[in-house]
Amino acid sequence: METTPDSTPPVNLNRRAFVGAAGLAGLGLLGASRAQAAPATSSSTTNSLLYTVPMNSAGEYELPPLPYAYDALEPAIDAETMRLHHDIHFNGYKNGLNKALAQLKQFRSAGDYPEISYWENELAFNGAGYNLHTVFFANMAPEGTTKPSSTLSKTLDTHFGGLDAFKGQFSAAAAKVQGSGWAILGYQPFGGKLVVLQAEKHQNLTQWGVIPILALDVWEHAYYLKYQNRRGDYIKNWWNVVNWDNVAQRTEAAMTA
Ligand SMILES: [Fe+2]
Repeated sequence: METTPDSTPPVNLNRRAFVGAAGLAGLGLLGASRAQAAPATSSSTTNSLLYTVPMNSAGEYELPPLPYAYDALEPAIDAETMRLHHDIHFNGYKNGLNKALAQLKQFRSAGDYPEISYWENELAFNGAGYNLHTVFFANMAPEGTTKPSSTLSKTLDTHFGGLDAFKGQFSAAAAKVQGSGWAILGYQPFGGKLVVLQAEKHQNLTQWGVIPILALDVWEHAYYLKYQNRRGDYIKNWWNVVNWDNVAQRTEAAMTA
């Protein structure tokens, strides 16, 4: 279950958020509406359409707590990898995102933009990294605790020709990402389609507007302690810890937003 640092119930959900609220509220995947999330008035959480991310009163992003124990995904993913991945790497993207936003705010105040391209790149890289890691950690659960619902299976059948076909394309995409990156199941709101994308780093090869639903991190920091160079084994075993309930809820929310 995705958790937030306080339990303040969401109020005044806007329509886009409310459509998916019935299925998401039980897992804490929705928080306050965007309209409530203005930095000056925010308490500690804000809604990012499909999931809740923690934010402090200054409007700075915080690190979403790991929704299970470090060792909960063993043997697929070992505790030490989870600890380093979540506490160090994910936290680093959070810090980078906040730093880029603060730097760009300072530029606006001064009306002067030295190194603008560098900081815009920092914003894209760290913002995409924070976004995808938020999805990635919520997408997993202890082995054997969830399975694809009939509704999700039908949706995957419609868009990919079946669960196995979807997993085949997704796994191939993950295996062949050049360098560090991701495989992502996303929803194209502009065409009403589910698609599998590769991302290099966090932000390259994406499509504007696609909503990430299921994300697999294939940076080496995600698997190298246990699997060394055997990325294929990591991908194969990762399927054992996919949280299919979370995938189903994100899919429904994305497709009805
Ligand atoms: Fe990562």
